[in-house]
Amino acid sequence: MIPSRFVRQVLLVLCMCVIAASVFAQATTGEYEPRVGQEGKDVVWVPTPQALVDKMLDVAKVTPQDFVIDLGSGDGRTVITAAKRDARALGIEYNPEMVEVSKRNAAREGVADKAQFIQGDLFESDFSQATIITMFLLEEINLKLRPRILDLKPGTRIVSNYFTMGAWAADEIVTVEKQEECQVYCTAYFWIVPAKVEGRWMLPQGELTLEQSFQMISGTLKSGANTTPVTNGKLSGDLITFSVGDITYTGRVNGSSMDGTYTTKWNATQVKEALQAPAKKPNL
Ligand SMILES: C[S@@+](CC[C@H](N)C(=O)[O-])C[C@H]1O[C@@H](n2cnc3c(N)ncnc32)[C@H](O)[C@@H]1O
Repeated sequence: MIPSRFVRQVLLVLCMCVIAASVFAQATTGEYEPRVGQEGKDVVWVPTPQALVDKMLDVAKVTPQDFVIDLGSGDGRTVITAAKRDARALGIEYNPEMVEVSKRNAAREGVADKAQFIQGDLFESDFSQATIITMFLLEEINLKLRPRILDLKPGTRIVSNYFTMGAWAADEIVTVEKQEECQVYCTAYFWIVPAKVEGRWMLPQGELTLEQSFQMISGTLKSGANTTPVTNGKLSGDLITFSVGDITYTGRVNGSSMDGTYTTKWNATQVKEALQAPAKKPNL
């Protein structure tokens, strides 16, 4: 999507304001002030609008049990917002000055204990412990990270500002609609890492062969001489659902086993009895 001329002009004016403000602030406080658009190792720094940060954490359903990692954490806003929601949160940022800015911002916001920042290259960092990963990078970087992301624990939630994961369709897309809250980069994509189910499975009903493309599944159920296609197959983390004929299976994948229930369609037609005279009361 190419931003309109108006949006580009607004961005230009914003950048100039930010540069002027940062030069002034740096001159008066001596603290490093980042500039929107400044070089980063693989991506420049552009902050996610706060309204979209909020929406990204909403769609990921952050709770105090979560461990949120922001890859390329900039000034720390996503990590700080997650910490304010009582989650443990970590920012991985290549630029050491941005790490210091983030630490100062977290301290100012009173969440230095929950919001942590480390200087490092996201390609060399271990983010396997995250329950939620947020990012605002580039599509090509998302695609490079995709195999590692798909190897994370099923159920790990991923939210990316603006950039998609190519053929891995998002489970949900959210947008900040209000112009006054967000002018550019107002849409985020959300995925849940699916369990890996491709292969052959034995069921009491027969042999199930599943093919998997990210969270979508297809395949067949072979029962004696009958082979029936698997339809409407989908994974949401470790939750699986698919249909074979009229039967819908739902369950949970746990490594090399699955457990769940199935429902099948049924119907009944009422039997109309002929009206009978009421039974006579016995004479007492
Ligand atoms: C577009 S900004 C997003 C900042 C923040 N996540 C946000 O949404 O506001 C990308 C950030 O990634 C950082 N970055 C670029 N390449 C990196 C790398 N290889 N490892 C870690 N951080 C990197 C940049 O310095 C920049 O702060």
